[in-house]
Amino acid sequence: MLPYFPFDNEFDHRMGTAPLRPDESLVEVDDDYEHEIGLKRELLTQDYRYYFQAQPGTEIAQWDVLERLLTEAADTYPQHFSLTKSGSAWHWINHLLSEEQQFTVGNPNSLPLPPLDWVGQQVQEDLIILSADGTASLVAGQLCFPNGWCLDDKFGQTFLGIHRPAPSMVQPTLQAAHKLLERIPEHRPIWRASWNFKITDQLDMSTKYTADYNDNLAKLAPTLTADTIGDQLFIRIERQTFTRLPNSGAVLFGIHTYQNSLASEAADSDRAQRMLGTLRTTPSEMLAYKAIAPFEDALIGFLENRIHVLQ
Ligand code: HEM
Repeated sequence: MLPYFPFDNEFDHRMGTAPLRPDESLVEVDDDYEHEIGLKRELLTQDYRYYFQAQPGTEIAQWDVLERLLTEAADTYPQHFSLTKSGSAWHWINHLLSEEQQFTVGNPNSLPLPPLDWVGQQVQEDLIILSADGTASLVAGQLCFPNGWCLDDKFGQTFLGIHRPAPSMVQPTLQAAHKLLERIPEHRPIWRASWNFKITDQLDMSTKYTADYNDNLAKLAPTLTADTIGDQLFIRIERQTFTRLPNSGAVLFGIHTYQNSLASEAADSDRAQRMLGTLRTTPSEMLAYKAIAPFEDALIGFLENRIHVLQ
C-alpha cells in the first residue's frame, strides 16, 4: 500500500502543506532502496549533466544538504546507517550498500563528487536547491525520477517561472506557496504530497520520455476499459519536503516518489472512494494537464465498480 494517499472526497485547490512532525524524517528508506540507488547511479553514469547540475556559489548550500540528510538518515535508520562526527571530520557507513566514506565537512576535495551529487546517491529522494534571494530559483539539483520535467527545462528559473505551465486555476495557490517558501523557519520543515495516474511505473519520467509516453498513451487509451484499467494504471505519489538550510539560507526541496498499481490500492474500499471523490471533482483543465483525460471515463468506471463490489 502507498504510505501517502493524498486523495479525499473532493479535489483540493489548496497547497496541501503541513509541518513535518518531529518523528517524521526528510529521508525515507523503503524496500526499493537498493534498486533505486542503483538506478540513480546508472542514470548519472549515462548522462551526468542531464541528472545533476549545480550553479557555482551553491557549495555552502550543498554541504548544508549533506549534513542535514546524513544526520537525519543515521538518526532515523540506525540499523542501516551510522555517522560518527569528530568536529568537521565525519565518517559515514552505509550498511545497506556496504560502503563507507570519510570526509571533512566543507572540503570538496575530501569527497569524490560534489556534495549534493554524493548525498543524492545515498538516499532515494530527488534533491533540489532553491536560492535564498527571494525568488526561490532552482540553483542546483540531482533529479533522476521527475514526473514530466528535467533540470534543463527549469534550471535557473524562479519558483513562479517553473510553475508557469501549470493550469491557471492553481496560480493563486502557487503565489501563496511562493510566500510560504520564503517564510519557512530554519527548524520547521514542511511537506505535501502530489498525485497522478500513469500507464507506466517507469520512475524516470524526465522530459526526454514525454513524447514517447504521449504516443503510447494515445495508442493505449482507447483500449482501456473499466474492466481492464485496474491492472494497467499506476498511481504515482510524490512526498515533497521543504527545508530551510542553516548556513546558506537556501531551501531544500526533496521528492520521494512512491508508486503502486491502481488495482492494489482500489482493493481498499476507503481508498477507492477517496480516489473517486477526487477524480469526479477535479476540473477538466487539470485532468488534461495531468494527462489523465484520455482514460478518465474508464478510470471512474473502474472505481465505481470496485466500490459496488466492496460494499
Ligand atoms: C508548496 C510548494 C509547492 C506547491 C503548492 C506546488 C504545486 C504545484 C502544482 C499544483 C502543480 C501542478 C500539477 C500538480 O498538481 O501536480 C505543480 C507542478 C510542478 N511543480 Fe510544484 N509546487 C510546489 C513546489 C515546487 C518546487 C519547490 C518545485 C521546484 C522545482 C516544483 C516544481 C514543479 C514542476 C516542475 C511542476 C510541473 C510544471 C510543468 O508542467 O512544467 N514545485 N506544482
